[in-house]
Amino acid sequence: MFLEKMLQSQGFGSRKYCQQLIKNGAVEIRGEIVDNPKHKLDLNELTYSVYGQDYVYREHVYIALNKPQGYECSHQATHHFSVFELFDDVLLNRGLQCVGRLDQDTTGLLLLTDDGQYLQALTHPKKHVAKVYSMHTADPVTPEQIQQLEQGVELRNEKGIFAATDVQLLASQQLQMTVHQGVYHQVKRMLAAVGNKVETLHRAQIGQLKLEDIAEGEWIYLNAAQIEQSKFRENLNPQ
Ligand code: URA
Repeated sequence: MFLEKMLQSQGFGSRKYCQQLIKNGAVEIRGEIVDNPKHKLDLNELTYSVYGQDYVYREHVYIALNKPQGYECSHQATHHFSVFELFDDVLLNRGLQCVGRLDQDTTGLLLLTDDGQYLQALTHPKKHVAKVYSMHTADPVTPEQIQQLEQGVELRNEKGIFAATDVQLLASQQLQMTVHQGVYHQVKRMLAAVGNKVETLHRAQIGQLKLEDIAEGEWIYLNAAQIEQSKFRENLNPQ
């Protein structure tokens, strides 16, 4: 691939802008300035720098963010910050999108990507990528409520039954559970359906990928093994 095309693919701007960057001597590969936009590159394990900042060539990006409270998962946030404010323009130019959504007041694991197939694979309603949530509730959680959550509840305007698995009472008003769909406000509505109320909500895991060692508001690139963990699907309804 030509250098100018590679830079464009990585989010540095239009082909013309990338040509200019290169001609200005802003781009170095292995410590050498390369000022020919048509310089041919081997993309395998390619690293380079632009104006002294180091980058790794990535065909696609897969990001895990520990989402803080007060951030919306939309580009045009209306009442809060947007999660996209946590990323620089080079990443945003690649067309980064949230993999599903968390409410503005929910914290925890949020995946973002520019890979449409990965996004589809994780958000397809029939694909059952499990998600683990922990929460504080307004009232003590009763054994009946746990049983109802495990058996499944109906949610207004949604088809089917919404059941949680691995429901664990961590304290009298603190619960962890796994859900297998991703409808709007699902966890809050499930708790409301059994007569309780979510006060704070945190997503700890998607598939087999756990939110570990990422401070709130910080993010990491997922490696190949972590991408696979995030796609892990249980076969809940074998056909
Ligand atoms: N369920 C909710 O109610 N809110 C979220 O943010 C995620 C799951």
